[in-house]
Amino acid sequence: MKSYRIACIPGDGIGKEVVPAGQAVLEALAAAQRGFRFEFSTFDWGGDWYRAHGEMMPAAGLEALRHVDAILFGSAGDPHIPDHITLWGLRLKICQGFDQYANVRPTRILPGIDGPLKRCAPADLDWVIVRENSEGEYSGVGGRVHQGHPIEVATDLSMMTRAGVERIMRFAFRLAQSRPRKLLTVVTKSNAQRHAMVMWDEIAVQVAQEFPDVKWDKELVDACTARMVNRPASLDTVVATNLHADILSDLAAALAGSLGIAPTANIDPERRYPSMFEPIHGSAFDIMGKGLANPIGTFWSCVMLLDHIGESEAARQLMQAIEKVTADPRLHTRDLGGKATTEEVTNAVCALLAQNDRLRVA
Ligand code: IPM
Ligand code: MG
Repeated sequence: MKSYRIACIPGDGIGKEVVPAGQAVLEALAAAQRGFRFEFSTFDWGGDWYRAHGEMMPAAGLEALRHVDAILFGSAGDPHIPDHITLWGLRLKICQGFDQYANVRPTRILPGIDGPLKRCAPADLDWVIVRENSEGEYSGVGGRVHQGHPIEVATDLSMMTRAGVERIMRFAFRLAQSRPRKLLTVVTKSNAQRHAMVMWDEIAVQVAQEFPDVKWDKELVDACTARMVNRPASLDTVVATNLHADILSDLAAALAGSLGIAPTANIDPERRYPSMFEPIHGSAFDIMGKGLANPIGTFWSCVMLLDHIGESEAARQLMQAIEKVTADPRLHTRDLGGKATTEEVTNAVCALLAQNDRLRVA
Protein backbone atom coordinates (compact mmCIF):
# COMPACT_ATOMS: atom_id res chain seq x y z
CA MET A 1 0.00 0.00 0.00
CA LYS A 2 1.17 3.49 -0.85
CA SER A 3 2.33 5.47 2.15
CA TYR A 4 2.81 9.23 2.31
CA ARG A 5 5.00 10.97 4.87
CA ILE A 6 3.33 14.12 6.12
CA ALA A 7 5.07 16.57 8.43
CA CYS A 8 2.65 18.45 10.69
CA ILE A 9 3.70 21.82 12.08
CA PRO A 10 0.83 23.17 14.17
CA GLY A 11 2.82 26.29 15.16
CA ASP A 12 0.99 28.79 17.35
CA GLY A 13 -2.50 29.75 18.49
CA ILE A 14 -5.35 27.96 16.76
CA GLY A 15 -2.82 26.19 14.53
CA LYS A 16 -2.58 23.74 17.43
CA GLU A 17 -6.30 23.00 17.06
CA VAL A 18 -6.80 22.97 13.32
CA VAL A 19 -3.75 20.89 12.35
CA PRO A 20 -4.79 17.88 14.50
CA ALA A 21 -8.27 18.31 12.99
CA GLY A 22 -6.75 18.15 9.50
CA GLN A 23 -4.77 15.08 10.51
CA ALA A 24 -7.97 13.39 11.77
CA VAL A 25 -9.69 14.07 8.47
CA LEU A 26 -6.76 12.71 6.46
CA GLU A 27 -6.75 9.57 8.65
CA ALA A 28 -10.48 9.13 8.09
CA LEU A 29 -9.98 9.50 4.37
CA ALA A 30 -7.18 6.95 4.26
CA ALA A 31 -9.28 4.52 6.31
CA ALA A 32 -12.20 4.96 3.91
CA GLN A 33 -10.19 4.80 0.69
CA ARG A 34 -7.92 1.96 1.74
CA GLY A 35 -5.57 2.49 -1.20
CA PHE A 36 -3.01 4.55 0.73
CA ARG A 37 -1.97 5.54 4.21
CA PHE A 38 -0.22 8.41 5.94
CA GLU A 39 2.75 8.48 8.26
CA PHE A 40 2.54 11.69 10.25
CA SER A 41 5.38 13.30 12.15
CA THR A 42 4.65 16.36 14.25
CA PHE A 43 7.13 19.18 14.92
CA ASP A 44 6.36 21.44 17.88
CA TRP A 45 8.13 24.50 16.47
CA GLY A 46 6.84 28.04 16.92
CA GLY A 47 6.44 30.50 19.79
CA ASP A 48 6.88 27.98 22.63
CA TRP A 49 9.96 26.53 20.96
CA TYR A 50 11.31 30.07 20.65
CA ARG A 51 10.84 30.71 24.38
CA ALA A 52 12.70 27.50 25.17
CA HIS A 53 15.44 27.65 22.52
CA GLY A 54 15.70 31.23 21.28
CA GLU A 55 14.71 30.29 17.74
CA MET A 56 11.43 29.39 16.04
CA MET A 57 12.75 26.09 14.67
CA PRO A 58 16.07 24.27 15.01
CA ALA A 59 18.88 25.17 12.62
CA ALA A 60 18.73 21.67 11.14
CA GLY A 61 14.93 21.80 10.90
CA LEU A 62 14.79 21.99 7.13
CA GLU A 63 16.82 18.78 6.90
CA ALA A 64 14.20 17.03 9.05
CA LEU A 65 11.49 18.04 6.57
CA ARG A 66 13.50 17.55 3.41
CA HIS A 67 12.19 14.13 2.44
CA VAL A 68 8.55 14.23 3.47
CA ASP A 69 5.85 14.14 0.80
CA ALA A 70 4.10 17.26 2.10
CA ILE A 71 3.93 19.63 5.05
CA LEU A 72 0.71 20.58 6.83
CA PHE A 73 1.23 23.90 8.60
CA GLY A 74 -1.02 25.68 11.12
CA SER A 75 0.10 29.22 11.81
CA ALA A 76 2.99 31.23 13.22
CA GLY A 77 2.40 34.27 15.40
CA ASP A 78 2.65 34.96 19.11
CA PRO A 79 1.47 38.03 21.02
CA HIS A 80 4.74 38.12 23.00
CA ILE A 81 7.18 37.74 20.10
CA PRO A 82 7.58 40.35 17.33
CA ASP A 83 5.74 39.27 14.17
CA HIS A 84 8.76 39.60 11.91
CA ILE A 85 10.61 37.08 14.10
CA THR A 86 7.84 34.49 14.08
CA LEU A 87 7.32 34.91 10.35
CA TRP A 88 10.94 34.86 9.22
CA GLY A 89 11.94 32.22 11.76
CA LEU A 90 9.48 29.58 10.66
CA ARG A 91 7.07 30.00 7.80
CA LEU A 92 9.26 32.05 5.51
CA LYS A 93 12.27 29.96 6.44
CA ILE A 94 10.47 26.92 5.09
CA CYS A 95 8.92 28.67 2.05
CA GLN A 96 12.21 30.24 1.01
CA GLY A 97 14.42 27.34 2.12
CA PHE A 98 12.40 24.97 -0.04
CA ASP A 99 11.95 27.52 -2.83
CA GLN A 100 8.16 27.16 -2.69
CA TYR A 101 7.82 29.99 -5.13
CA ALA A 102 4.19 29.52 -6.12
CA ASN A 103 1.59 30.33 -3.51
CA VAL A 104 -1.83 29.25 -4.67
CA ARG A 105 -5.01 30.63 -3.08
CA PRO A 106 -8.34 29.39 -4.40
CA THR A 107 -11.48 31.27 -3.39
CA ARG A 108 -15.08 30.21 -3.87
CA ILE A 109 -18.31 30.86 -2.01
CA LEU A 110 -18.99 27.39 -0.63
CA PRO A 111 -22.56 26.09 -0.30
CA GLY A 112 -24.39 27.54 2.72
CA ILE A 113 -21.98 30.44 3.12
CA ASP A 114 -23.30 33.96 3.02
CA GLY A 115 -20.82 36.32 1.39
CA PRO A 116 -20.99 40.08 1.89
CA LEU A 117 -21.53 40.91 -1.80
CA LYS A 118 -25.25 41.46 -2.29
CA ARG A 119 -25.36 41.20 -6.06
CA CYS A 120 -22.99 38.29 -6.38
CA ALA A 121 -24.29 34.80 -7.12
CA PRO A 122 -22.00 32.13 -5.63
CA ALA A 123 -20.96 31.05 -9.11
CA ASP A 124 -19.73 34.58 -9.89
CA LEU A 125 -16.86 34.23 -7.49
CA ASP A 126 -14.51 31.43 -8.44
CA TRP A 127 -10.94 32.64 -8.33
CA VAL A 128 -7.46 31.33 -7.87
CA ILE A 129 -4.90 33.88 -6.79
CA VAL A 130 -1.30 32.97 -7.61
CA ARG A 131 1.09 34.76 -5.31
CA GLU A 132 4.79 35.11 -6.09
CA ASN A 133 6.20 33.54 -2.94
CA SER A 134 9.97 33.83 -3.06
CA GLU A 135 11.02 37.44 -3.67
CA GLY A 136 9.53 40.87 -4.39
CA GLU A 137 8.52 42.83 -1.32
CA TYR A 138 9.29 39.82 0.91
CA SER A 139 12.88 39.42 -0.25
CA GLY A 140 14.15 40.56 3.13
CA VAL A 141 16.68 42.90 1.55
CA GLY A 142 17.15 46.18 3.35
CA GLY A 143 18.43 47.52 6.59
CA ARG A 144 18.50 50.23 9.20
CA VAL A 145 21.23 52.72 9.90
CA HIS A 146 21.57 55.37 12.58
CA GLN A 147 19.14 53.39 14.70
CA GLY A 148 17.38 55.50 17.28
CA HIS A 149 18.93 58.76 16.06
CA PRO A 150 16.99 61.52 14.32
CA ILE A 151 18.74 60.71 11.06
CA GLU A 152 17.68 57.05 11.15
CA VAL A 153 17.11 55.47 7.75
CA ALA A 154 15.33 52.19 7.02
CA THR A 155 14.80 50.41 3.72
CA ASP A 156 12.90 47.36 2.53
CA LEU A 157 13.91 46.65 -1.01
CA SER A 158 11.57 44.81 -3.33
CA MET A 159 13.72 42.51 -5.44
CA MET A 160 12.38 41.14 -8.70
CA THR A 161 14.49 38.79 -10.76
CA ARG A 162 13.77 37.90 -14.39
CA ALA A 163 13.99 34.21 -13.53
CA GLY A 164 11.65 34.67 -10.56
CA VAL A 165 9.05 36.57 -12.56
CA GLU A 166 9.25 34.24 -15.55
CA ARG A 167 8.66 31.14 -13.45
CA ILE A 168 5.65 32.54 -11.57
CA MET A 169 4.12 33.89 -14.81
CA ARG A 170 4.57 30.52 -16.47
CA PHE A 171 3.02 28.79 -13.47
CA ALA A 172 0.04 31.18 -13.52
CA PHE A 173 -0.55 30.87 -17.27
CA ARG A 174 -0.38 27.08 -16.97
CA LEU A 175 -2.87 27.10 -14.10
CA ALA A 176 -5.20 29.43 -15.99
CA GLN A 177 -4.94 27.11 -18.99
CA SER A 178 -6.01 24.15 -16.85
CA ARG A 179 -9.20 25.89 -15.71
CA PRO A 180 -12.35 25.95 -17.84
CA ARG A 181 -12.35 29.69 -18.57
CA LYS A 182 -8.65 29.90 -19.48
CA LEU A 183 -8.59 33.46 -18.19
CA LEU A 184 -5.72 35.19 -16.42
CA THR A 185 -5.45 38.64 -14.91
CA VAL A 186 -1.94 39.94 -14.34
CA VAL A 187 -1.94 42.41 -11.46
CA THR A 188 0.59 45.21 -11.59
CA LYS A 189 1.47 48.68 -10.38
CA SER A 190 3.71 49.70 -13.24
CA ASN A 191 2.19 53.17 -13.42
CA ALA A 192 3.87 54.12 -10.14
CA GLN A 193 6.67 51.58 -9.81
CA ARG A 194 8.55 52.18 -12.97
CA HIS A 195 11.34 49.60 -12.88
CA ALA A 196 10.56 46.17 -11.47
CA MET A 197 6.86 46.33 -12.24
CA VAL A 198 7.56 47.37 -15.81
CA MET A 199 9.80 44.30 -16.15
CA TRP A 200 6.96 42.26 -14.61
CA ASP A 201 4.59 43.52 -17.33
CA GLU A 202 7.10 42.85 -20.11
CA ILE A 203 7.64 39.30 -18.92
CA ALA A 204 3.87 38.74 -18.83
CA VAL A 205 3.70 39.71 -22.51
CA GLN A 206 6.57 37.34 -23.35
CA VAL A 207 5.24 34.36 -21.42
CA ALA A 208 1.71 34.92 -22.77
CA GLN A 209 3.05 34.00 -26.22
CA GLU A 210 3.64 30.45 -24.99
CA PHE A 211 -0.05 30.19 -24.09
CA PRO A 212 -2.04 31.39 -27.11
CA ASP A 213 -5.23 29.74 -25.81
CA VAL A 214 -5.22 31.71 -22.55
CA LYS A 215 -7.05 35.05 -22.58
CA TRP A 216 -5.32 37.52 -20.33
CA ASP A 217 -5.53 41.09 -19.21
CA LYS A 218 -3.60 43.47 -17.01
CA GLU A 219 -5.05 45.26 -14.00
CA LEU A 220 -3.56 47.76 -11.60
CA VAL A 221 -3.69 46.44 -8.05
CA ASP A 222 -5.82 49.26 -6.69
CA ALA A 223 -8.31 48.92 -9.52
CA CYS A 224 -8.28 45.18 -8.95
CA THR A 225 -9.73 45.57 -5.44
CA ALA A 226 -12.68 47.49 -6.88
CA ARG A 227 -13.10 44.95 -9.67
CA MET A 228 -13.19 42.09 -7.16
CA VAL A 229 -16.11 43.80 -5.42
CA ASN A 230 -17.97 45.19 -8.45
CA ARG A 231 -17.32 42.63 -11.18
CA PRO A 232 -16.26 39.39 -9.49
CA ALA A 233 -17.26 37.24 -12.46
CA SER A 234 -14.77 39.07 -14.69
CA LEU A 235 -11.89 37.38 -12.81
CA ASP A 236 -10.74 33.77 -12.80
CA THR A 237 -7.01 33.18 -12.30
CA VAL A 238 -5.05 36.13 -10.95
CA VAL A 239 -1.28 36.49 -10.63
CA ALA A 240 0.33 39.13 -8.45
CA THR A 241 3.49 39.97 -6.55
CA ASN A 242 4.10 38.70 -3.03
CA LEU A 243 2.64 41.73 -1.24
CA HIS A 244 -0.09 42.57 -3.73
CA ALA A 245 -1.39 39.01 -3.62
CA ASP A 246 -1.13 38.94 0.17
CA ILE A 247 -3.56 41.84 0.34
CA LEU A 248 -5.83 40.71 -2.50
CA SER A 249 -6.15 37.23 -1.00
CA ASP A 250 -7.44 38.56 2.33
CA LEU A 251 -10.01 40.59 0.42
CA ALA A 252 -10.90 37.50 -1.60
CA ALA A 253 -11.34 35.40 1.54
CA ALA A 254 -13.55 38.03 3.16
CA LEU A 255 -15.67 38.32 0.00
CA ALA A 256 -16.12 34.55 0.04
CA GLY A 257 -17.57 34.71 3.54
CA SER A 258 -14.79 34.12 6.04
CA LEU A 259 -11.06 34.06 6.52
CA GLY A 260 -11.65 30.79 8.37
CA ILE A 261 -12.38 28.94 5.13
CA ALA A 262 -9.57 30.01 2.84
CA PRO A 263 -6.76 27.55 2.08
CA THR A 264 -3.35 28.00 0.60
CA ALA A 265 -0.55 25.94 -0.89
CA ASN A 266 3.12 26.92 -0.97
CA ILE A 267 4.34 24.93 -3.91
CA ASP A 268 7.65 24.00 -5.41
CA PRO A 269 6.29 23.17 -8.87
CA GLU A 270 9.54 21.41 -9.82
CA ARG A 271 9.12 19.08 -6.82
CA ARG A 272 12.73 19.40 -5.74
CA TYR A 273 11.45 20.00 -2.20
CA PRO A 274 8.28 19.26 -0.25
CA SER A 275 5.40 21.72 -0.62
CA MET A 276 3.51 23.17 2.32
CA PHE A 277 -0.24 23.52 2.85
CA GLU A 278 -1.90 25.81 5.39
CA PRO A 279 -5.06 27.74 6.19
CA ILE A 280 -4.58 31.46 5.64
CA HIS A 281 -6.29 32.62 8.86
CA GLY A 282 -3.24 32.91 11.15
CA SER A 283 -2.92 32.16 14.86
CA ALA A 284 -6.07 34.01 16.11
CA PHE A 285 -5.01 34.25 19.74
CA ASP A 286 -8.33 35.75 20.78
CA ILE A 287 -10.12 32.44 20.26
CA MET A 288 -7.31 29.97 20.89
CA GLY A 289 -7.89 26.99 23.17
CA LYS A 290 -11.66 27.44 23.11
CA GLY A 291 -12.50 24.95 20.39
CA LEU A 292 -14.04 27.72 18.27
CA ALA A 293 -11.61 27.70 15.35
CA ASN A 294 -13.03 26.92 11.94
CA PRO A 295 -11.12 23.88 10.63
CA ILE A 296 -12.51 24.24 7.08
CA GLY A 297 -9.52 26.31 5.90
CA THR A 298 -7.26 23.46 6.99
CA PHE A 299 -9.48 20.80 5.42
CA TRP A 300 -9.51 22.66 2.11
CA SER A 301 -5.71 22.93 2.39
CA CYS A 302 -5.70 19.14 2.82
CA VAL A 303 -7.64 18.90 -0.45
CA MET A 304 -4.82 20.83 -2.11
CA LEU A 305 -2.28 18.57 -0.41
CA LEU A 306 -4.03 15.46 -1.73
CA ASP A 307 -4.14 16.88 -5.25
CA HIS A 308 -0.45 17.69 -5.02
CA ILE A 309 0.56 14.15 -4.01
CA GLY A 310 -1.61 12.74 -6.79
CA GLU A 311 -4.57 11.44 -4.76
CA SER A 312 -7.12 13.40 -6.74
CA GLU A 313 -10.05 11.05 -6.10
CA ALA A 314 -9.49 11.43 -2.35
CA ALA A 315 -9.22 15.19 -2.85
CA ARG A 316 -12.54 15.23 -4.65
CA GLN A 317 -14.23 13.23 -1.89
CA LEU A 318 -12.88 15.48 0.83
CA MET A 319 -14.02 18.62 -1.01
CA GLN A 320 -17.47 17.09 -1.41
CA ALA A 321 -17.63 16.35 2.33
CA ILE A 322 -16.51 19.91 3.13
CA GLU A 323 -19.25 21.36 0.93
CA LYS A 324 -21.90 19.15 2.54
CA VAL A 325 -20.80 20.38 5.94
CA THR A 326 -20.72 24.09 5.03
CA ALA A 327 -24.20 23.70 3.52
CA ASP A 328 -25.56 22.88 6.98
CA PRO A 329 -25.79 26.05 9.14
CA ARG A 330 -25.83 23.91 12.29
CA LEU A 331 -22.24 23.06 11.45
CA HIS A 332 -21.09 26.66 11.12
CA THR A 333 -18.43 27.90 13.52
CA ARG A 334 -18.54 31.32 15.14
CA ASP A 335 -16.73 33.15 12.30
CA LEU A 336 -19.70 32.15 10.12
CA GLY A 337 -22.25 33.25 12.68
CA GLY A 338 -22.83 29.72 14.00
CA LYS A 339 -22.24 27.84 17.23
CA ALA A 340 -20.49 24.68 16.09
CA THR A 341 -17.13 23.74 17.58
CA THR A 342 -13.95 22.68 15.79
CA GLU A 343 -14.60 19.16 17.00
CA GLU A 344 -18.19 19.02 15.75
CA VAL A 345 -17.19 20.18 12.28
CA THR A 346 -14.29 17.71 12.20
CA ASN A 347 -16.48 14.81 13.32
CA ALA A 348 -19.09 15.69 10.71
CA VAL A 349 -16.51 15.64 7.90
CA CYS A 350 -15.02 12.35 9.17
CA ALA A 351 -18.51 10.80 9.39
CA LEU A 352 -19.26 11.75 5.79
CA LEU A 353 -15.98 10.22 4.62
CA ALA A 354 -16.77 6.99 6.50
CA GLN A 355 -20.23 6.98 4.94
CA ASN A 356 -18.70 7.14 1.45
CA ASP A 357 -16.75 4.07 2.41
CA ARG A 358 -19.86 2.20 3.52
CA LEU A 359 -21.65 3.16 0.30
CA ARG A 360 -18.71 1.88 -1.72
CA VAL A 361 -18.62 -1.45 0.13
CA ALA A 362 -22.40 -1.93 -0.10
C1 IPM B 1 -0.40 35.25 4.60
C2 IPM B 1 -0.11 35.95 5.89
C3 IPM B 1 1.37 36.15 6.09
C4 IPM B 1 1.96 36.96 4.97
C5 IPM B 1 1.62 36.79 7.44
C6 IPM B 1 1.27 35.85 8.57
C7 IPM B 1 2.99 37.33 7.60
O1 IPM B 1 -0.79 37.15 5.95
O2 IPM B 1 0.02 34.10 4.43
O3 IPM B 1 -1.06 35.84 3.76
O4 IPM B 1 1.84 38.17 4.89
O5 IPM B 1 2.56 36.37 4.10
MG1 MG C 1 -1.95 37.55 4.26
